[in-house]
This record gives sequence, structure tokens and C-alpha cells, in this order.
Amino acid sequence: MKFFVDTADIDAIRDLHALGMVDGVTTNPSLINKSGRDILEVTKEICDLVEGPVSAEVIATESDAMIAEGRKLAEIAENIAVKVPLTWDGLKACKVLSDEGRMVNVTLCFTANQALLAAKAGATFISPFIGRLDDLNMDGLELIADIREIYDNYGYETQILAASIRTANHMSECAKIGADVATAPPGVIHAMANHVLTDKGLAAFLKDAEAAGIKIV
Ligand code: E4P
Repeated sequence: MKFFVDTADIDAIRDLHALGMVDGVTTNPSLINKSGRDILEVTKEICDLVEGPVSAEVIATESDAMIAEGRKLAEIAENIAVKVPLTWDGLKACKVLSDEGRMVNVTLCFTANQALLAAKAGATFISPFIGRLDDLNMDGLELIADIREIYDNYGYETQILAASIRTANHMSECAKIGADVATAPPGVIHAMANHVLTDKGLAAFLKDAEAAGIKIV
């Protein structure tokens, strides 16, 4: 499973990138707002740092305007994936932009039917939002599994980009289901390394190393 980082925080991307943990980046208007940076400037900086796809989201809601914004965003760098919302206009924009050879990430997906439409419209990525469904007491992971089954049934090449990930458990469950990509905030990726027994075991080993007077270098 590929890891995308769901942030516009350059320092956080740089840290994870140095560890080989960054196969791509996703942003959205809320994350750009949080960064306090200009969208074109910060997106260019991210594209210069990361080789993989960097999603940048349009803000227009009508298809022609989305297409114009998508083309402008795609000029930033070759690894831009234009992010469009899963509306009928978004699907029209997806079709045009993907026919032009651009990567398109269709976002705000909450049903298997929406994912089916995005695949038909030529999306490179479909972004089902797990956490926002869980917030409503619905099952976000079940949606990932349903989309996996449907895409496999028909051989759709659209990649399932599990989004709105809130916990380390979401990451392992997505990997078990077979999501192609999971995009997570830096904190969730760091949390994947944590286990209370690791901390406890390490503390015991260090105590015994001190008692034994072990020195290595
Ligand atoms: C990524 O593409 C999405 O915009 C993001 O994962 C949404 O996450 P949130 O539901 O935590 O805002």
C-alpha cells in the first residue's frame, strides 16, 4: 500500500520523506488554509520535494471553471493530481482532464456508486472518506471493501485512495482490505510505530543493560 501524507506542512512532509514514507501528498483547501501559505507557492514547494502524485484541489463548482482551475494547477508540476469533488460537474471535469492525460483525484466519495461513476469518468484516484463516515456512526472501512470488490469485479484501474484517516488502525485495516493508497496526517503515520509493549520492553532492556554495564560504542 502506498502512503500519501495528508498535509500542506512542508516540514512534516520533509521529515517523513527522509524516511521513505512518502509516496505522494494530498492537500485540500482546509489544509492549505491551515498552512497559511499561498496555494500555488506551497504546492510547488511540495512538488519539488516529492516525486509521487501531489493532489491539489479546485475550488470552482461548475465544470468549465473546474477544468480551467485544474489546467492551471497542473501547470505547477508534472506530478500534480487535480482534485475535483464528486459532483456531476466534478465528474465532467474529471473526464475532460483525464482525457487530456492529467492525473485526477475524485474526492469527497461516500458511496460505492459514487466510486463506480468516478472510475467510469477515468479518475486516476478515488478518495473515499473513512473518518467522516465513522463520525456519523457509519462504517468507512466497509466502503473501502465494497469499492475494492467492485473495482476488482470489472478491472477498473482507478486507484482506491483511502482518505479521512484518523487512526493507525485505519491504516492497517486499509492495507488488509487492499486499498491502493492511504493518505494520513503525519501524526497518524507516526502513531503506527507505537505500542505500549515496545515501550515497556525497551525500558526493561535498558535497565538490564545498565545493570550489566553493557557498552557498544
Ligand atoms: C484527503 O484527500 C482528504 O481531503 C482528507 O483526508 C480529509 O480528511 P478529514 O476528514 O480528516 O478532513
